[in-house]
Amino acid sequence: MGWRDPSALAAMRGIKAEGGWAVVCTEMVEIHPAADVTPYVELRLWSDQDLPVHSHIVDAIHAHGSLAGIELCHSGGTAVNLWSREIPIAPSDRPASSSFDDPVHARAMDKEDIRNLRLAHRAAALRAKKAGYDLVYVYAGHGLGIFQQFLSRATNRRSDEYGGSLENRVRLLREVIEDTKDAVGATCAVPVRLSMSEIGVAGGLERAEVMDAIAFMAELPDLWDLCLSSWQYDSQTSRFAEEGFQEPYIKGVKALTTKPVVGVGRYTSPDSWCALSGAGSWT
Ligand SMILES: Cc1cc2nc3c(=O)[nH]c(=O)nc-3n(C[C@H](O)[C@H](O)[C@H](O)COP(=O)(O)O)c2cc1C
Repeated sequence: MGWRDPSALAAMRGIKAEGGWAVVCTEMVEIHPAADVTPYVELRLWSDQDLPVHSHIVDAIHAHGSLAGIELCHSGGTAVNLWSREIPIAPSDRPASSSFDDPVHARAMDKEDIRNLRLAHRAAALRAKKAGYDLVYVYAGHGLGIFQQFLSRATNRRSDEYGGSLENRVRLLREVIEDTKDAVGATCAVPVRLSMSEIGVAGGLERAEVMDAIAFMAELPDLWDLCLSSWQYDSQTSRFAEEGFQEPYIKGVKALTTKPVVGVGRYTSPDSWCALSGAGSWT
């Protein structure tokens, strides 16, 4: 529904809250015109003009006593900017691929682009707080969040302090978590959504490397929200995946951090979650 059908979206999130979820989150929300994922339709928080839509969503969630979360997103090399006509940016030069095979090329970001990205993320976080959100996410998932693209050798071929070693590839994610906490952390939680592996991507992230990245930043976010790879591996149907199919990837993360760890993977019943997870703990 996204920016095109905000009233329907607000009603849908309100129904989730009414159903009893403690936290109800938005989908990915474009933080800037240069993060435009057209022809997909997601939410936008490009400027204060988008605030009324978000306040409407937050109010629908709060009306039933749930907390409202927003997933701020810059899709980097997968934001082809067909609407805003901005040149796509990415950690390194690459074809800017959406699922629609648009013939667009993303340019490698220079230091000023990195500074501007951090400022845009910070500005969006402050706007999210103004709209009333309780959780403001930093998104590094599904191959879409630009911070995952920095983390992965498959998309980051830089030779400066943002490329090469894992410590360097994690740098921007760390900085943005710190920026976001500094901007809104006094009143909002700052979770991170992160892909545990890049299945099917040549030279992509593997679980062991992501575990090391989490260990680097273990206590920095307020919550770890883990997912898998890109969407075709993360969102699977009952025909292809068992309940709890992501547990082998998530297992062990809770031992790295005192923060809450959240996972997904076709859970349909709290009973099976407890059975699969050994009385409910991912250790
Ligand atoms: C239609 C659809 C849209 C989704 N959009 C987002 C999104 O915007 N951001 C995100 O982090 N995950 C998104 N996801 C992934 C889900 O949040 C979740 O990680 C995934 O579906 C696996 O959980 P499940 O097995 O309980 O469905 C989407 C999934 C589906 C099916």
